[in-house]
Formats: sequence, C-alpha cells, structure tokens
Amino acid sequence: MDVTVTETVFEFNQHEKAEIDIWVAQYPLEQKRSAVIPALHIAQKANGGWLSEAAMKAVADYLGLPQIQVFEVATFYSMFELAPVGKHKLCVCTNVACLLNGSDDIVAHLKKRLKIGLGETTADKQFTLKEVECLGACVNAPVLQLGEEYHEKLTPEKVDALLAGLE
Ligand code: FES
Repeated sequence: MDVTVTETVFEFNQHEKAEIDIWVAQYPLEQKRSAVIPALHIAQKANGGWLSEAAMKAVADYLGLPQIQVFEVATFYSMFELAPVGKHKLCVCTNVACLLNGSDDIVAHLKKRLKIGLGETTADKQFTLKEVECLGACVNAPVLQLGEEYHEKLTPEKVDALLAGLE
C-alpha cells in the first residue's frame, strides 16, 4: 500500500487528552496500545477529518508507543483518512449484500451528482466519496455511512434527499 502523509503541526488539547485518558483507563496500564483506535478517532476529528503524520505521532507520543504501532493501525482501517477529505464523507458499502441490492446504482448516482469518482473529493471540498466494506447493516442494504450516521435501504431518490439536506 502506497501511503502519502502530509506534515502539519498537531497537538491534543486538554479535553482531547481527557477523552483519550477515559479509553486508556479501560485497559491494564501496560496495555495502552488497546486505546490506539479510539485515540486515532479523537485525533482525526481534532484534525479536521484526517490523520496527518503529526497527528499520528501525537497519538504515539501520548500513549507512549513506537510510532510504527500507531501508523500500522491508521493505515489498515478504511475509517482513517491519511489525506484531507471533504466536509461530508460519504462511505458507500459495496460488499455482497449491498451489491445485490443496488449499491452500484447508488455509487453511479453519487458519482453523477457530485461529478467525482470513488476516493475523490469535490473541488469545493464539500464531499468525499468512498467505497467501503461491509458496514454491518446488511439487512437494510444498500447502506451508506455519513459521519456517525447510517442511511439504509438507499435509493437514488433517498440519496438526492440526503444531499439536499447537506448542500
Ligand atoms: Fe453492506 Fe453489509 S454488505 S452493510
């Protein structure tokens, strides 16, 4: 996997550190590594939706871990972004249940509406369109994740209504 990271300045504020501390407290003291995923989520949110190299280093420093142990998690999961994304990140599941229930039509509709391809961001930085693996809501396929919300049993009309509420 080719990973491109962009260097920026990043520091956790006191509130973010307290949030990470809550996660760290869930595990034995010598198992701070278990808090990497929630700490990365906190860093990503604090950094405007993506993880710069500085943000990942801040996670490693705060948890007292080698940077590689943070980088390998951040680069593995599709929920972590290694480059800036749009204000709204639309993650469309194209796994089997969604595929059989029309995710191709949803992706095609979004590509046409937003005039971008998968993995791309609109020129105005409002939308990023992503293809993701199973979101665990197969019973209501096809499914799209926007922020922390799921939008299920999608149709092109539902997608239009969703976009209208965001534009
Ligand atoms: Fe799409 Fe499971 S296959 S949510």
